[in-house]
Amino acid sequence: MSDTSNSCILRVVLCAWLITIPALLSAQNEPIKYIGPGSCAATSCHGSVKPIAGSRILQNEYSTWIIKDKHSRAYQALTGDVGERMAHILKLGAKAEEAPKCLACHSLNPPPEQRGRAFEISEGVSCENCHGPASAWLGPHTTKSWAHEKSVALGMHDTRDVIHRTEKCLECHLGTKSKSVDHEMIAAGHPDLYFELDSFSAVMPRHWKVPRESEPGKPVEDPAWVGVREWSTGQAVQLRVALERLTWRAKNERADKKDVWPEYSELSCVACHHALGASKDSWRQEHGYIGRRPGDPAWNSSRYAVFRLLAKQIDSANALELDRQLLTVSNEMSKLNADRNAVASAASAAAPLAQRIAERLAAMQFDQAVALRMLQRISDDAENIALADERAAEQAAMALDSLYIAYSKDSKPSNAAEVRAAINGLFQQLENPSAYNADQFASSLRRQNHVSNRFIDSSVESCTHWIFRAIDESIRNMVLWVIVLAVHDAAAAFAVDSPRLGAWRSCAGAGCGARSGNGGVGAPRYSGDQS
Ligand code: HEC
Ligand code: HEC
Ligand code: HEC
Ligand code: HEC
Repeated sequence: MSDTSNSCILRVVLCAWLITIPALLSAQNEPIKYIGPGSCAATSCHGSVKPIAGSRILQNEYSTWIIKDKHSRAYQALTGDVGERMAHILKLGAKAEEAPKCLACHSLNPPPEQRGRAFEISEGVSCENCHGPASAWLGPHTTKSWAHEKSVALGMHDTRDVIHRTEKCLECHLGTKSKSVDHEMIAAGHPDLYFELDSFSAVMPRHWKVPRESEPGKPVEDPAWVGVREWSTGQAVQLRVALERLTWRAKNERADKKDVWPEYSELSCVACHHALGASKDSWRQEHGYIGRRPGDPAWNSSRYAVFRLLAKQIDSANALELDRQLLTVSNEMSKLNADRNAVASAASAAAPLAQRIAERLAAMQFDQAVALRMLQRISDDAENIALADERAAEQAAMALDSLYIAYSKDSKPSNAAEVRAAINGLFQQLENPSAYNADQFASSLRRQNHVSNRFIDSSVESCTHWIFRAIDESIRNMVLWVIVLAVHDAAAAFAVDSPRLGAWRSCAGAGCGARSGNGGVGAPRYSGDQS
């Protein structure tokens, strides 16, 4: 114990010394600057190879980032074939890796006057992209008992706050007025952007302790519900930011003033990108284009299709108004020539409602009862979700897959093969987005529930006993979701090996439709049995 704390103090002192002197020399009275990831890389700071025992933070953040995190290779994405072809198609007049339009999200690229030291743009998305420019807080933040708030006052981004954290991710994973991905870029080869805080954090992978510790061994929040808070708050924030994006797009407030309307990437991709078959086989015709003129592409509602159920659960007043505004957005956006004013006014009225719900979720105490009610609604609504959009279905499949994998690492159920096959079936439905069939997906989802329930019956009866007593109906579905929720956080623990997102999202070879720009629309390619 004393060994550890001694070496820890030594590290902190050494770290402070290494950083403070040059930082003080260069940064006094100067505007806040970016100083590059190298400044964090000392082994005594954040560059340890292994997590340091007895430290509140892991101290191997740099190593995790450089070895495992795709952000450190974001610049290289630009220099590959797809990136260069995009530059050519988009007539950027420069290589992708020289184009500010691309560097904005693929690197740390502040204007020259904000560069504190010489650092390499090829280092990709690095520490200060997410944590903010460090010149002012770099030195002091290594001193003992230095408060996080003081760093924030000196320019550190407050990633501890789940809402601020999500906003930071979404600057690149959804876009801002000055940097965004539109259908023009997607058609040229860029993957479509979508996001989910909990899964994306796991895949990153996390280089921080979950739950956070106030000091070593002292969690400051209930470990059971961290992931649920991230998932739910992240959903609310991403809806808000998406509505803000829709608003500035409708109002033509892009920084480059290029006016594009309708912006196809706000619509359901598979509405336009699907294969045609015989009329009698068309599920679209079967369901009759509810809420829009036959043939007009629908608004992409995947950021709302699941979240709306949650919103209703926890804040019915705001949710009702949100529903009303989003019905207008959806109706208007699903017309051929959506009225930009009507869209902007409904979307900008809805955004603060989503924010209010986000704030509520970020501060909420989660417990089984809340989660149960919430998840019951989601499973009850599987059919609507499947019909909403292929992207909404994708969300459902990803959730089940990652959660089941997490669960089965610890104890394999006796019918593991059957469950796996059922989940594979869901992904198969999404493998070719052009061939997406909502009815088939919904029935696979039902089959999945059925199979999983049997596995739950046989393997976790005792854990679920109390639930059986408490609740009498829809029990099968709910029990599945209880398990799903319970393993949710466990997934984070072995995020590094977990195939959450990563298995199909990071594939680079044959079979990676979206990645190679061959007409896939960003849907997953399931890569086989992961369990
Ligand atoms: C708004 C931010 C943003 C902008 C601007 C942007 N990108 Fe990206 N790009 C991303 C994100 C985020 C991803 C990862 C998407 C994912 O996996 O969900 C990505 C992924 C990519 C990929 C796929 C990488 C891989 O590992 O398969 C390529 C290629 C790419 N971008 C090229 C470009 C080019 C070229 C430009 C400029 C024309 C550009 N990007 C501009 C955010 C951006
Ligand atoms: C893509 C965004 C991103 C990048 C890049 C990134 N981080 Fe982080 N980092 C986060 C997030 C999000 C958290 C979690 C915030 C929290 O819970 O406080 C975090 C947490 C941390 C923590 C723990 C903070 C605490 O108080 O518990 C440290 C230390 C840290 N990062 C250092 C680094 C270093 C060093 C680098 C570069 C080598 C880096 N980060 C790169 C997003 C990022
Ligand atoms: C400065 C822009 C930027 C910020 C901020 C950012 N990202 Fe990224 N992210 C990217 C780019 C660009 C890529 C694509 C890298 C590549 O494929 O080479 C990416 C890729 C990823 C991937 C890998 C996706 C895949 O295809 O496997 C994950 C996961 C991810 N980001 C999560 C996050 C999370 C979580 C946050 C917030 C804590 C965040 N990102 C913040 C730009 C950013
Ligand atoms: C309103 C109809 C419409 C919507 C909605 C739409 N697209 Fe497109 N997309 C097109 C058209 C038209 C083209 C050009 C096709 C051509 O020239 O053959 C295209 C081209 C593409 C291409 C290149 C095609 C290829 O064969 O390489 C990709 C990839 C793509 N879109 C992806 C998407 C994604 C992802 C979305 C949703 C975020 C989306 N599209 C939404 C109409 C649409």
